[in-house]
Amino acid sequence: MSALSSVKTASPSVAPVPLCLRAVTPDQARDGAGLIYRQIRAGRAVTVQVAGGREALARLEQACRAIGLGTVDLRLLEGPADLSLSPLGPLPGHGGPLRVALAGCGVVGGGVLPRLLDRPDIALVGVLVQSPVKVRVPEPAPELVVTDPAALLAREPDVVLDTLSDASVSLALIRAALSRGIHVVSASKQAVAADVEGLSALATATGATLRYSAAVGGGVPMLETVRQARALGPIRRIEAVLNGTVNFLLNRLAVGHPFDAALAEAQAAGFAEADPSADLTGRDAAAKLFLLSRAAFGAGARLPDRVDALGPDFQPGPAPVRQLAVADCAGGQITLAPVAGDALFAALADAGNAIRITLADGRVLSRSGLGAGRAPTAESVWADLTDLLTSRVGAGADGAEL
Ligand SMILES: NC(=O)c1ccc[n+]([C@@H]2O[C@H](COP(=O)([O-])OP(=O)(O)OC[C@H]3O[C@@H](n4cnc5c(N)ncnc54)[C@H](OP(=O)(O)O)[C@@H]3O)[C@@H](O)[C@H]2O)c1
Repeated sequence: MSALSSVKTASPSVAPVPLCLRAVTPDQARDGAGLIYRQIRAGRAVTVQVAGGREALARLEQACRAIGLGTVDLRLLEGPADLSLSPLGPLPGHGGPLRVALAGCGVVGGGVLPRLLDRPDIALVGVLVQSPVKVRVPEPAPELVVTDPAALLAREPDVVLDTLSDASVSLALIRAALSRGIHVVSASKQAVAADVEGLSALATATGATLRYSAAVGGGVPMLETVRQARALGPIRRIEAVLNGTVNFLLNRLAVGHPFDAALAEAQAAGFAEADPSADLTGRDAAAKLFLLSRAAFGAGARLPDRVDALGPDFQPGPAPVRQLAVADCAGGQITLAPVAGDALFAALADAGNAIRITLADGRVLSRSGLGAGRAPTAESVWADLTDLLTSRVGAGADGAEL
């Protein structure tokens, strides 16, 4: 699979950002990979020198792979490190500890939790779950756990990170938070797509910021790439593979695995939710395509007119098939389409996601990477949080300044 770092664009080349990272511990490697991720998703190339010897280099390579940064050029630094190139210090722009509430502590939320606990400049004020007795790894401290969204907001967070699996609870929580001027980072495409205009207006009215990068593409920063493309000129067309579970299933079905076994494998790997119907019916991809279309073509974008489902009756043929999401300014569709000869999509392994954006003048941007799973999706949520703090708000809804 081509990697997140291999953004292909016809835009003028800019000097790469030099980073010097220390990766003596796994947490430093994870934070270093996060720093690289944020640069790349902002459309910047990086050159990375790694301090701490060969083990540190291997650790950082591993941390990059875990979030889908497959082809970063990492070089071992000989001699003393100039860590001034790598601002891994406190989160910028905030006076006291930032009060963060985590809604959901499953695949995605459980990936964000250790990052929150590691930061002395973040105060985790609450963790919203459905079942307080459930055994989780990692386990939040009992005094943090609440089961009522109102109780979470009563802890007066500055930011809510929404990683709930119930879209209606998510939507109500996002509305309640934004209406109080609390910033929101959401991973829920169904919740955001259900009322993106209303949520954006609410955020603008209260001065809060709403970000939802993880909701589209998991670890692949698709919304950012669309915004970067739009800054270059009008967009003619978007083509994308947007659902990691369906991509995983199609790959398994193509090599003869039974449908139910492939689905169980996707669930065990954390790609598919316990109820996979949104993935299989195409509803998940439809919500994502809608959000991409809105970013590409403006507020008049609609949900796709045609959405094909994947079921046990699917018969794989000799050519690779993908759940292909295609949109232009007139509308969109989600189909199960053969993609032989299209290297970007045909090569997508496991839960891979990819996007190709064609500008009106014919220029093309593409990006691919890990579309689901704990590490890449949590990284995306974390990057939204740190970007939000870096820009220290004033951005309005959508974080549209990206
Ligand atoms: N998994 C991925 O790879 C991925 C990728 C991109 C985006 N997303 C999105 O991220 C979100 C979370 O996905 P996930 O895979 O992390 O789901 P998950 O593992 O099922 O975790 C969902 C969390 O939400 C909590 N929850 C659900 N309903 C609730 C309710 N009514 N009240 C309070 N808490 C509730 C659950 O509580 P309990 O722990 O008590 O059950 C759990 O902690 C979803 O919107 C999903 O579409 C996921």
